[in-house]
Amino acid sequence: YRSLRVALLGAGTVGAQVARLLLEESDELANRIGARLELVGIAVRDVDAPRDVDLPRELFTTDAERLILGADIVVELMGGLEPARSLVLQAIGSGADVVTANKALLATHGVEIFDLAEQVGAQVAYEAAVAGAIPIIRPLSESLAGDRVERIVAILNGTTNFILDRMDSTGETLEESLAIATELGYAEADPTADIEGYDAAQKAALLASLAFHTTVPLDQVHREGITTVDAAQVDSAKKQGYVVKLVAVCERVPGEDGTERISVRTHPALIDGRHPLAAVHGANNAVFVEAAAAGQLMFYGAGAGGPQTASAVLGDLVAVARRHVVGGPGLVASDHAALPIVPIGDICTSS
Ligand code: NAP
Ligand code: HSE
Repeated sequence: YRSLRVALLGAGTVGAQVARLLLEESDELANRIGARLELVGIAVRDVDAPRDVDLPRELFTTDAERLILGADIVVELMGGLEPARSLVLQAIGSGADVVTANKALLATHGVEIFDLAEQVGAQVAYEAAVAGAIPIIRPLSESLAGDRVERIVAILNGTTNFILDRMDSTGETLEESLAIATELGYAEADPTADIEGYDAAQKAALLASLAFHTTVPLDQVHREGITTVDAAQVDSAKKQGYVVKLVAVCERVPGEDGTERISVRTHPALIDGRHPLAAVHGANNAVFVEAAAAGQLMFYGAGAGGPQTASAVLGDLVAVARRHVVGGPGLVASDHAALPIVPIGDICTSS
């Protein structure tokens, strides 16, 4: 196989898992893509910092700008706006494709980044930026591109869902459960982004932009977090058959002049205990989509966490890499990946 040079920016909760999978699954990924993903280096702040995963020391560097030079694909998992923005623009400008999980970056500087990518013909993939492991970017931008999305109601932040769930089930305070969420790798580097609703608002802006084929500026998203929610409110809601959830709502609404407008908001809401959203526990997320022809669709799964988010990043890497390969295996399994098929009768009779 030919090699595609992959530069990784960041080896924290998500980046370390992406590096592990790239190294452990190297042969399998090469078979699926028709090219080998060669991890050429990992940029971090401190090369000696302890990592969740044991990774080769020689891969680490603090010189991200240099690492990007000559890369075919740059995977940005540093988070934050700068230097992530400059590095992503540099990568695209130098001819690389980009995979990122950075919703803050895309919700703030997406127009600049996507415009440059369009000019130079680069790919920018960001499935991991919204709802962790749940496939929702590609369903909205590809599978539902021919339909008319009317409304999205979603739980888009794993940390706040985890906190509210624990306040409900264990009676812990927000501070106590946030400390656990941080320990588990769910929270942002600055968890204010989670509990004040910034993270959910950024994700809602990205989803609404895709769903309604427009650009939703972040400052047009109404944002409330969960810092005003206390244990007494959670308990009172429970006694009345409700659960408190931080929801994101993106919908078409009639404007005053009769024209249609887009409303995007994040805020705590009382959810009827019988509604499917009430059953989204822990750091899971869920996205309900109502589309004119498709009707109601529901996407559910892990909204945060290192290995879970790494799954979405790897999916983007495979998709982006496949477009580099003319005559590669494509979407149909190649001979290399052929596995024995269990006869249908065996499945039906096994208990
Ligand atoms: P993290 O644990 O804080 O890791 C950030 C990594 O980036 C660290 O390795 C850090 O280096 C490196 N880094 C940060 N600033 C840098 C700089 N200026 N120069 C060089 N390296 C720098 O973050 P994370 O949780 O993995 O999240 C990464 C991205 O994925 C964020 O955009 C986040 O919003 C997104 N995301 C996270 C999750 C999740 O569950 N955690 C889920 C979906 C999306 P050091 O290790 O040396 O400090
Ligand atoms: N801090 C984010 C969350 C990570 O809790 O949902 C996933 O984007």
